[in-house]
Amino acid sequence: MTYKAFIFDLDGVITDTAHYHFLAWKRLADRLGIPFDEHDNERLKGVSRMRSLELILEKSTKTYSPEQMHEMAERKNDDYKELIAEITSHDILPGVAEVFAWLKAKHYKIGLASASKNAAFVVERLGITRDFDYIADAAKIPNSKPAPDVFLDVAKAFNLPSSMCVGVEDAAAGVQAIKAAGMFAVGIGDPAVLYEADLVFPSMAAFDSKKVAG
Ligand code: BG6
Ligand code: MG
Repeated sequence: MTYKAFIFDLDGVITDTAHYHFLAWKRLADRLGIPFDEHDNERLKGVSRMRSLELILEKSTKTYSPEQMHEMAERKNDDYKELIAEITSHDILPGVAEVFAWLKAKHYKIGLASASKNAAFVVERLGITRDFDYIADAAKIPNSKPAPDVFLDVAKAFNLPSSMCVGVEDAAAGVQAIKAAGMFAVGIGDPAVLYEADLVFPSMAAFDSKKVAG
């Protein structure tokens, strides 16, 4: 195999912050009287904060000004930050440490391609900042997932062509971003949701590094 780097999503792959994003959005939707459940949330996974809000407001009967939307997004982020304030290394999902150890032993580069502006904080709380050879800064990425930009940013930092990179994602929008970047896509979760991935494992605990890169 010719792969040289593995580029991971954060929320829902390394740690279960995807659930905290859901809880924070749910709080907002409830306040506004907009129906929103785990099924609706699937479309928000991997998607930027403002785009997520737009998707939630699609079901609203009211229209909101850009200022009101900005305030809603800020409030969701405040709620989200409250939920993640106390996370620790115990919140790293099962299997992640083993996968990282295997990749390091085989000298693969490890990158982080998260759409979250809170990614650096989360990774710091988890105590794994130094495990990454490069962490993309979501604030500096022009187009968010499903656009390929964040994955291409990591490949560029590694000075590698996309064909030598594997992307790992739990979101449909994320898998689309990996494929748009021209990389091998590993999905973590439900194959019916992540049908565009080249390979899907139900969880990081089931991640079989040898199946991807021997
Ligand atoms: C992604 C999450 O990683 O980051 C999305 O899957 C989230 O749910 C997005 O909306 C942006 O995160 P943040 O922390 O910048 O609002
Ligand atoms: Mg994710």
